Amino acid sequence: MFGFRRDAQGRAMLSGSLLSDLLAEARVATPAYLYDVDGISHETRELTQALADSRHLVAYAVKANSAGTIVRTVAEQGAGADVVSGAELRVALGAGVAPDRIVMSGVGKSDDELDLALSSKIRSIQVESLEEIERVAARAQALSQAARVSLRIKPDVAIDSHAHVATGHDEAKFGIAQQDLGAAWDRLDRSPEALRAVGVSSHVGSMLAAIEPYLEAAGRVCEVARARRAAGKPLEFVNFGGGFGIDYGSGPTARPAEFARAALWLLGQQGLHDLQLIVEPGRSLVGPYGVLVARIVQLKQSGSQRFAVLDAGMNDLIRPALYGARHRIEPLSEPPLPPAWRVVGPVCESADDFGVYDLGESPADLVAIRDAGAYGFVMASQYNGRRLPSEVFVTRGRVSSISESPGLDAWVARRLQA
Ligand code: LLP
Repeated sequence: MFGFRRDAQGRAMLSGSLLSDLLAEARVATPAYLYDVDGISHETRELTQALADSRHLVAYAVKANSAGTIVRTVAEQGAGADVVSGAELRVALGAGVAPDRIVMSGVGKSDDELDLALSSKIRSIQVESLEEIERVAARAQALSQAARVSLRIKPDVAIDSHAHVATGHDEAKFGIAQQDLGAAWDRLDRSPEALRAVGVSSHVGSMLAAIEPYLEAAGRVCEVARARRAAGKPLEFVNFGGGFGIDYGSGPTARPAEFARAALWLLGQQGLHDLQLIVEPGRSLVGPYGVLVARIVQLKQSGSQRFAVLDAGMNDLIRPALYGARHRIEPLSEPPLPPAWRVVGPVCESADDFGVYDLGESPADLVAIRDAGAYGFVMASQYNGRRLPSEVFVTRGRVSSISESPGLDAWVARRLQA
Protein backbone atom coordinates (compact mmCIF):
# COMPACT_ATOMS: atom_id res chain seq x y z
CA MET A 1 0.00 0.00 0.00
CA PHE A 2 1.15 3.56 -0.65
CA GLY A 3 3.22 4.98 2.19
CA PHE A 4 4.45 1.61 3.39
CA ARG A 5 7.75 -0.11 2.77
CA ARG A 6 8.91 -3.64 3.59
CA ASP A 7 11.47 -4.47 6.24
CA ALA A 8 14.03 -7.27 5.82
CA GLN A 9 11.47 -9.84 6.97
CA GLY A 10 8.69 -8.64 4.72
CA ARG A 11 6.74 -6.69 7.34
CA ALA A 12 5.06 -3.52 6.11
CA MET A 13 6.48 -0.41 7.81
CA LEU A 14 5.15 3.14 7.80
CA SER A 15 7.43 5.12 5.49
CA GLY A 16 8.99 8.44 6.50
CA SER A 17 6.79 10.46 4.16
CA LEU A 18 3.61 8.79 5.41
CA LEU A 19 4.72 9.43 9.00
CA SER A 20 5.11 13.17 8.20
CA ASP A 21 1.63 13.26 6.67
CA LEU A 22 0.10 11.39 9.61
CA LEU A 23 1.70 13.69 12.14
CA ALA A 24 0.28 16.69 10.29
CA GLU A 25 -3.13 15.00 10.07
CA ALA A 26 -3.14 14.18 13.80
CA ARG A 27 -2.04 17.71 14.76
CA VAL A 28 -0.18 16.49 17.81
CA ALA A 29 3.15 17.78 19.03
CA THR A 30 6.25 15.62 19.00
CA PRO A 31 7.33 13.36 20.54
CA ALA A 32 4.50 11.10 19.47
CA TYR A 33 4.13 7.36 19.09
CA LEU A 34 2.44 6.24 15.87
CA TYR A 35 1.14 2.69 15.58
CA ASP A 36 0.24 0.73 12.48
CA VAL A 37 -2.87 -1.03 13.81
CA ASP A 38 -3.24 -3.15 10.65
CA GLY A 39 0.29 -4.51 11.09
CA ILE A 40 -0.52 -5.54 14.66
CA SER A 41 -3.77 -7.10 13.53
CA HIS A 42 -2.09 -9.05 10.74
CA GLU A 43 0.78 -10.34 12.94
CA THR A 44 -1.72 -11.46 15.59
CA ARG A 45 -3.92 -13.19 13.03
CA GLU A 46 -0.94 -15.12 11.65
CA LEU A 47 -0.16 -16.28 15.15
CA THR A 48 -3.69 -17.26 16.17
CA GLN A 49 -4.10 -19.09 12.86
CA ALA A 50 -0.82 -20.97 13.39
CA LEU A 51 -2.31 -22.40 16.56
CA ALA A 52 -5.07 -23.70 14.30
CA ASP A 53 -7.16 -25.16 17.10
CA SER A 54 -9.46 -22.80 18.99
CA ARG A 55 -8.68 -24.68 22.20
CA HIS A 56 -5.29 -23.01 22.30
CA LEU A 57 -4.76 -19.47 23.50
CA VAL A 58 -2.54 -16.55 22.60
CA ALA A 59 -2.51 -14.51 25.81
CA TYR A 60 -1.18 -11.14 24.63
CA ALA A 61 1.19 -9.68 27.27
CA VAL A 62 -0.60 -6.39 27.89
CA LYS A 63 2.46 -4.91 29.58
CA ALA A 64 4.11 -4.51 26.16
CA ASN A 65 1.50 -1.98 25.08
CA SER A 66 -1.70 -1.47 27.02
CA ALA A 67 -3.44 0.99 24.66
CA GLY A 68 -7.13 0.09 24.41
CA THR A 69 -7.04 0.22 20.61
CA ILE A 70 -4.25 -2.34 20.59
CA VAL A 71 -5.77 -4.68 23.18
CA ARG A 72 -9.08 -4.54 21.29
CA THR A 73 -7.29 -5.23 18.00
CA VAL A 74 -5.46 -8.31 19.22
CA ALA A 75 -8.65 -9.54 20.92
CA GLU A 76 -10.55 -9.17 17.62
CA GLN A 77 -7.93 -11.43 16.04
CA GLY A 78 -8.57 -14.13 18.62
CA ALA A 79 -6.05 -13.29 21.35
CA GLY A 80 -6.69 -13.25 25.09
CA ALA A 81 -4.49 -11.46 27.61
CA ASP A 82 -1.69 -11.96 30.10
CA VAL A 83 -1.85 -9.24 32.77
CA VAL A 84 0.47 -8.37 35.64
CA SER A 85 -1.63 -5.93 37.66
CA GLY A 86 -5.20 -5.16 38.60
CA ALA A 87 -5.14 -2.12 36.32
CA GLU A 88 -4.00 -4.19 33.32
CA LEU A 89 -6.75 -6.68 34.13
CA ARG A 90 -9.28 -3.84 34.07
CA VAL A 91 -7.94 -2.70 30.67
CA ALA A 92 -8.20 -6.23 29.26
CA LEU A 93 -11.76 -6.68 30.55
CA GLY A 94 -12.72 -3.17 29.43
CA ALA A 95 -11.34 -3.89 25.96
CA GLY A 96 -13.68 -6.87 25.71
CA VAL A 97 -11.35 -9.78 26.46
CA ALA A 98 -13.40 -12.63 27.97
CA PRO A 99 -12.32 -13.43 31.55
CA ASP A 100 -11.68 -17.08 30.70
CA ARG A 101 -9.09 -15.91 28.15
CA ILE A 102 -7.06 -13.94 30.72
CA VAL A 103 -4.18 -15.16 32.87
CA MET A 104 -2.47 -13.13 35.58
CA SER A 105 1.27 -13.29 36.31
CA GLY A 106 3.52 -11.34 38.69
CA VAL A 107 5.70 -12.00 41.73
CA GLY A 108 3.95 -9.49 43.97
CA LYS A 109 0.21 -9.51 43.40
CA SER A 110 -1.53 -7.54 46.13
CA ASP A 111 -4.60 -8.85 47.95
CA ASP A 112 -6.73 -6.34 46.05
CA GLU A 113 -5.36 -7.61 42.75
CA LEU A 114 -5.99 -11.22 43.74
CA ASP A 115 -9.54 -10.32 44.77
CA LEU A 116 -10.16 -8.66 41.41
CA ALA A 117 -8.75 -11.67 39.55
CA LEU A 118 -10.91 -14.05 41.61
CA SER A 119 -14.11 -12.08 41.33
CA SER A 120 -13.56 -11.58 37.58
CA LYS A 121 -13.23 -15.38 37.19
CA ILE A 122 -10.17 -15.27 35.00
CA ARG A 123 -8.71 -18.40 33.47
CA SER A 124 -5.83 -18.70 35.91
CA ILE A 125 -3.74 -16.96 38.52
CA GLN A 126 -0.17 -17.99 37.79
CA VAL A 127 1.42 -18.34 41.22
CA GLU A 128 5.10 -17.72 41.67
CA SER A 129 5.88 -19.02 45.18
CA LEU A 130 4.70 -21.36 47.92
CA GLU A 131 4.01 -18.30 50.02
CA GLU A 132 1.78 -16.84 47.33
CA ILE A 133 -0.28 -20.05 47.23
CA GLU A 134 -1.14 -19.42 50.90
CA ARG A 135 -2.32 -15.90 50.12
CA VAL A 136 -4.37 -17.04 47.13
CA ALA A 137 -5.99 -19.74 49.32
CA ALA A 138 -6.80 -17.16 51.99
CA ARG A 139 -8.36 -14.73 49.47
CA ALA A 140 -10.32 -17.54 47.80
CA GLN A 141 -11.69 -18.62 51.18
CA ALA A 142 -12.57 -15.03 52.07
CA LEU A 143 -14.53 -14.73 48.80
CA SER A 144 -15.99 -18.27 49.10
CA GLN A 145 -14.70 -19.17 45.72
CA ALA A 146 -12.25 -21.66 44.21
CA ALA A 147 -9.15 -20.09 42.68
CA ARG A 148 -7.97 -21.50 39.36
CA VAL A 149 -4.23 -21.69 39.78
CA SER A 150 -1.24 -22.60 37.64
CA LEU A 151 2.30 -22.99 38.88
CA ARG A 152 4.85 -20.77 37.20
CA ILE A 153 7.98 -22.84 37.26
CA LYS A 154 11.54 -21.65 37.00
CA PRO A 155 12.73 -23.54 33.94
CA ASP A 156 16.38 -22.99 34.87
CA VAL A 157 17.36 -22.23 31.30
CA ALA A 158 19.79 -19.38 30.71
CA ILE A 159 19.17 -17.36 27.53
CA ASP A 160 21.43 -15.13 25.52
CA SER A 161 19.67 -11.83 26.34
CA HIS A 162 20.34 -8.73 28.37
CA ALA A 163 20.37 -9.67 32.09
CA HIS A 164 17.39 -7.38 32.70
CA VAL A 165 15.12 -9.40 30.41
CA ALA A 166 16.23 -12.93 31.33
CA THR A 167 13.75 -14.41 33.80
CA GLY A 168 14.03 -18.20 33.68
CA HIS A 169 17.47 -18.73 35.19
CA ASP A 170 18.20 -20.21 38.56
CA GLU A 171 18.56 -17.00 40.56
CA ALA A 172 15.69 -15.05 39.04
CA LYS A 173 13.00 -13.74 41.37
CA PHE A 174 10.35 -15.28 39.11
CA GLY A 175 8.77 -18.69 39.39
CA ILE A 176 8.89 -21.70 41.68
CA ALA A 177 12.17 -23.63 41.90
CA GLN A 178 12.17 -27.26 40.78
CA GLN A 179 12.87 -28.50 44.30
CA ASP A 180 9.76 -26.76 45.68
CA LEU A 181 7.32 -28.10 43.10
CA GLY A 182 6.36 -31.21 45.09
CA ALA A 183 5.44 -29.04 48.07
CA ALA A 184 3.49 -26.66 45.80
CA TRP A 185 1.33 -29.42 44.30
CA ASP A 186 0.76 -30.90 47.78
CA ARG A 187 -0.39 -27.54 49.07
CA LEU A 188 -2.81 -27.12 46.15
CA ASP A 189 -4.19 -30.63 46.67
CA ARG A 190 -4.76 -30.04 50.38
CA SER A 191 -7.45 -27.36 49.81
CA PRO A 192 -9.48 -28.50 46.80
CA GLU A 193 -12.40 -26.31 47.85
CA ALA A 194 -10.21 -23.16 47.62
CA LEU A 195 -7.56 -24.07 45.06
CA ARG A 196 -7.92 -25.77 41.69
CA ALA A 197 -4.65 -26.70 39.98
CA VAL A 198 -5.23 -26.14 36.27
CA GLY A 199 -1.87 -25.51 34.61
CA VAL A 200 1.89 -25.28 34.47
CA SER A 201 3.53 -22.08 33.15
CA SER A 202 6.91 -20.56 32.52
CA HIS A 203 8.44 -17.51 30.86
CA VAL A 204 12.11 -17.91 30.11
CA GLY A 205 12.82 -14.30 29.15
CA SER A 206 12.49 -11.79 26.37
CA MET A 207 14.10 -11.13 22.99
CA LEU A 208 14.63 -14.72 21.90
CA ALA A 209 15.95 -14.63 18.34
CA ALA A 210 15.84 -18.40 17.91
CA ILE A 211 13.28 -21.02 18.85
CA GLU A 212 15.60 -23.54 20.60
CA PRO A 213 15.86 -21.91 24.07
CA TYR A 214 12.09 -21.41 24.03
CA LEU A 215 11.57 -25.09 23.34
CA GLU A 216 14.12 -26.05 25.98
CA ALA A 217 12.17 -24.13 28.64
CA ALA A 218 8.89 -25.46 27.23
CA GLY A 219 10.32 -28.97 27.54
CA ARG A 220 10.70 -28.41 31.31
CA VAL A 221 7.08 -27.31 31.52
CA CYS A 222 6.04 -30.48 29.70
CA GLU A 223 8.08 -32.67 32.07
CA VAL A 224 6.32 -31.12 35.06
CA ALA A 225 2.94 -31.52 33.37
CA ARG A 226 3.60 -35.17 32.54
CA ALA A 227 4.71 -35.94 36.09
CA ARG A 228 1.55 -34.34 37.42
CA ARG A 229 -0.63 -36.41 35.13
CA ALA A 230 1.34 -39.56 35.92
CA ALA A 231 0.31 -38.93 39.55
CA GLY A 232 -3.30 -39.22 38.35
CA LYS A 233 -4.13 -35.53 38.64
CA PRO A 234 -6.09 -33.56 36.04
CA LEU A 235 -4.54 -30.63 34.19
CA GLU A 236 -6.01 -28.22 31.65
CA PHE A 237 -3.10 -26.35 30.11
CA VAL A 238 0.59 -25.76 29.68
CA ASN A 239 1.77 -22.16 29.20
CA PHE A 240 5.15 -21.71 27.56
CA GLY A 241 5.25 -17.92 28.07
CA GLY A 242 6.29 -15.21 25.63
CA GLY A 243 9.67 -13.81 24.68
CA PHE A 244 9.58 -14.04 20.86
CA GLY A 245 12.21 -11.60 19.59
CA ILE A 246 12.04 -8.99 16.85
CA ASP A 247 14.65 -7.56 14.52
CA TYR A 248 15.91 -4.30 16.02
CA GLY A 249 18.39 -4.01 13.17
CA SER A 250 20.85 -6.72 14.10
CA GLY A 251 19.28 -9.53 12.09
CA PRO A 252 16.11 -11.50 11.49
CA THR A 253 14.41 -13.49 14.22
CA ALA A 254 11.88 -16.32 14.05
CA ARG A 255 8.33 -15.00 13.57
CA PRO A 256 5.63 -15.47 16.24
CA ALA A 257 3.78 -18.01 14.09
CA GLU A 258 6.97 -20.08 13.78
CA PHE A 259 7.42 -20.13 17.57
CA ALA A 260 3.80 -21.26 17.89
CA ARG A 261 4.13 -24.06 15.34
CA ALA A 262 7.25 -25.33 17.12
CA ALA A 263 5.42 -25.19 20.47
CA LEU A 264 2.54 -27.23 19.04
CA TRP A 265 4.96 -29.78 17.65
CA LEU A 266 6.57 -30.13 21.09
CA LEU A 267 3.19 -30.60 22.74
CA GLY A 268 2.43 -33.52 20.43
CA GLN A 269 5.88 -34.97 20.77
CA GLN A 270 5.54 -34.96 24.57
CA GLY A 271 2.20 -36.80 24.39
CA LEU A 272 0.31 -33.78 25.71
CA HIS A 273 -1.78 -32.96 22.62
CA ASP A 274 -5.00 -33.10 24.62
CA LEU A 275 -3.88 -30.18 26.80
CA GLN A 276 -4.53 -26.56 25.92
CA LEU A 277 -1.43 -24.63 24.86
CA ILE A 278 -1.05 -21.02 25.99
CA VAL A 279 1.64 -18.65 24.68
CA GLU A 280 2.17 -15.12 26.04
CA PRO A 281 3.84 -12.91 23.44
CA GLY A 282 4.00 -9.15 23.90
CA ARG A 283 6.81 -7.48 22.01
CA SER A 284 6.58 -9.50 18.80
CA LEU A 285 2.95 -8.53 18.15
CA VAL A 286 3.42 -4.79 18.59
CA GLY A 287 7.11 -3.80 18.63
CA PRO A 288 7.77 -3.56 14.88
CA TYR A 289 4.54 -1.61 14.30
CA GLY A 290 5.25 1.40 16.51
CA VAL A 291 7.41 4.43 15.70
CA LEU A 292 8.38 7.27 18.01
CA VAL A 293 8.55 10.45 15.96
CA ALA A 294 10.73 13.17 17.46
CA ARG A 295 11.98 16.58 16.46
CA ILE A 296 15.58 17.69 16.50
CA VAL A 297 15.62 20.68 18.84
CA GLN A 298 19.31 21.36 18.66
CA LEU A 299 22.29 20.39 16.56
CA LYS A 300 25.52 20.71 18.48
CA GLN A 301 29.11 20.42 17.24
CA SER A 302 31.41 19.96 20.18
CA GLY A 303 35.03 19.47 19.11
CA SER A 304 34.94 16.50 16.78
CA GLN A 305 31.57 15.32 18.16
CA ARG A 306 28.29 15.95 16.40
CA PHE A 307 25.19 15.75 18.55
CA ALA A 308 21.58 15.81 17.42
CA VAL A 309 19.49 16.64 20.48
CA LEU A 310 15.89 15.44 20.20
CA ASP A 311 12.71 16.49 21.96
CA ALA A 312 12.29 12.78 22.86
CA GLY A 313 14.36 11.39 25.68
CA MET A 314 14.78 8.44 27.99
CA ASN A 315 11.55 9.43 29.70
CA ASP A 316 9.70 8.69 26.42
CA LEU A 317 11.64 5.56 25.43
CA ILE A 318 13.83 4.12 28.17
CA ARG A 319 15.05 0.98 26.42
CA PRO A 320 18.40 2.39 25.20
CA ALA A 321 19.24 3.77 28.67
CA LEU A 322 18.04 0.71 30.57
CA TYR A 323 19.17 -2.15 28.36
CA GLY A 324 21.65 -0.59 25.96
CA ALA A 325 19.01 -1.25 23.29
CA ARG A 326 19.37 0.10 19.77
CA HIS A 327 16.35 1.48 17.93
CA ARG A 328 17.06 2.45 14.35
CA ILE A 329 16.79 6.20 13.89
CA GLU A 330 16.32 7.78 10.48
CA PRO A 331 15.35 11.17 9.10
CA LEU A 332 11.71 11.34 8.06
CA SER A 333 12.23 13.24 4.84
CA GLU A 334 15.26 11.53 3.27
CA PRO A 335 17.20 8.26 3.33
CA PRO A 336 19.73 7.89 6.16
CA LEU A 337 23.11 9.01 4.78
CA PRO A 338 26.46 9.83 6.43
CA PRO A 339 27.71 11.62 8.36
CA ALA A 340 26.78 9.99 11.63
CA TRP A 341 25.47 11.94 14.60
CA ARG A 342 25.22 10.97 18.25
CA VAL A 343 21.49 11.15 18.89
CA VAL A 344 20.64 12.18 22.44
CA GLY A 345 17.60 13.34 24.39
CA PRO A 346 17.08 16.49 26.46
CA VAL A 347 17.02 14.76 29.86
CA CYS A 348 19.78 15.65 32.32
CA GLU A 349 21.34 12.18 32.37
CA SER A 350 24.31 10.87 30.39
CA ALA A 351 22.33 7.67 29.78
CA ASP A 352 19.82 9.73 27.76
CA ASP A 353 21.57 8.62 24.58
CA PHE A 354 20.00 6.71 21.66
CA GLY A 355 23.30 5.89 19.90
CA VAL A 356 25.00 6.96 16.68
CA TYR A 357 23.03 7.14 13.43
CA ASP A 358 23.47 8.55 9.94
CA LEU A 359 21.35 11.67 9.63
CA GLY A 360 23.04 13.47 6.72
CA GLU A 361 25.01 16.73 6.43
CA SER A 362 22.31 19.01 7.76
CA PRO A 363 19.56 16.92 9.33
CA ALA A 364 16.00 18.07 8.77
CA ASP A 365 13.96 18.41 11.88
CA LEU A 366 11.91 15.18 12.17
CA VAL A 367 13.27 11.70 12.85
CA ALA A 368 11.68 8.26 13.23
CA ILE A 369 12.79 6.02 16.08
CA ARG A 370 11.80 2.56 14.86
CA ASP A 371 10.52 -0.61 16.54
CA ALA A 372 9.13 1.31 19.48
CA GLY A 373 5.67 -0.28 19.65
CA ALA A 374 6.54 -2.47 22.63
CA TYR A 375 7.81 -1.27 26.02
CA GLY A 376 7.85 2.30 24.73
CA PHE A 377 4.93 4.43 25.88
CA VAL A 378 4.14 1.98 28.71
CA MET A 379 7.52 2.69 30.32
CA ALA A 380 7.38 6.47 29.79
CA SER A 381 7.72 8.81 32.77
CA GLN A 382 7.57 12.50 33.52
CA TYR A 383 11.14 12.74 34.82
CA ASN A 384 12.56 16.26 34.50
CA GLY A 385 9.04 17.64 34.27
CA ARG A 386 8.50 16.33 30.78
CA ARG A 387 5.10 15.59 29.37
CA LEU A 388 4.05 12.10 28.34
CA PRO A 389 4.11 11.55 24.59
CA SER A 390 0.94 11.47 22.49
CA GLU A 391 -0.15 8.26 20.75
CA VAL A 392 -1.59 8.12 17.24
CA PHE A 393 -3.29 5.01 15.87
CA VAL A 394 -3.17 4.42 12.12
CA THR A 395 -5.56 2.25 10.13
CA ARG A 396 -5.29 1.77 6.35
CA GLY A 397 -2.73 4.54 6.23
CA ARG A 398 -4.97 7.13 7.96
CA VAL A 399 -5.23 8.40 11.51
CA SER A 400 -8.02 6.40 13.18
CA SER A 401 -7.68 7.64 16.76
CA ILE A 402 -5.47 9.77 18.98
CA SER A 403 -4.59 9.67 22.64
CA GLU A 404 -3.22 13.11 23.23
CA SER A 405 -0.55 13.93 25.80
CA PRO A 406 -2.12 15.14 29.05
CA GLY A 407 0.31 18.08 28.90
CA LEU A 408 2.09 19.52 31.91
CA ASP A 409 -0.43 21.55 33.88
CA ALA A 410 -1.50 18.58 36.00
CA TRP A 411 2.12 17.70 36.66
CA VAL A 412 2.99 21.20 37.80
CA ALA A 413 -0.11 21.36 40.02
CA ARG A 414 0.61 18.00 41.64
CA ARG A 415 4.25 18.85 42.32
CA LEU A 416 3.16 22.12 43.91
CA GLN A 417 0.63 20.26 46.05
CA ALA A 418 3.12 17.62 47.19
N1 LLP B 1 4.89 -13.39 30.06
C1 LLP B 1 5.53 -13.00 31.17
C2 LLP B 1 5.27 -13.70 32.42
C3 LLP B 1 6.44 -11.94 31.11
O1 LLP B 1 7.09 -11.55 32.21
C4 LLP B 1 6.65 -11.25 29.88
C5 LLP B 1 7.58 -10.12 29.79
C6 LLP B 1 5.94 -11.69 28.76
C7 LLP B 1 5.07 -12.77 28.88
C8 LLP B 1 6.06 -11.03 27.41
O2 LLP B 1 7.35 -11.09 26.92
P1 LLP B 1 7.66 -10.58 25.41
O3 LLP B 1 6.94 -11.51 24.45
O4 LLP B 1 7.16 -9.20 25.30
O5 LLP B 1 9.13 -10.64 25.31
N2 LLP B 1 10.90 -3.97 29.19
C9 LLP B 1 11.69 -5.00 28.56
C10 LLP B 1 10.96 -6.32 28.43
C11 LLP B 1 10.46 -6.84 29.76
C12 LLP B 1 9.69 -8.11 29.59
C13 LLP B 1 9.04 -8.50 30.85
N3 LLP B 1 8.24 -9.67 30.79
C14 LLP B 1 12.14 -4.48 27.19
O6 LLP B 1 11.85 -3.35 26.86
O7 LLP B 1 12.87 -5.18 26.47
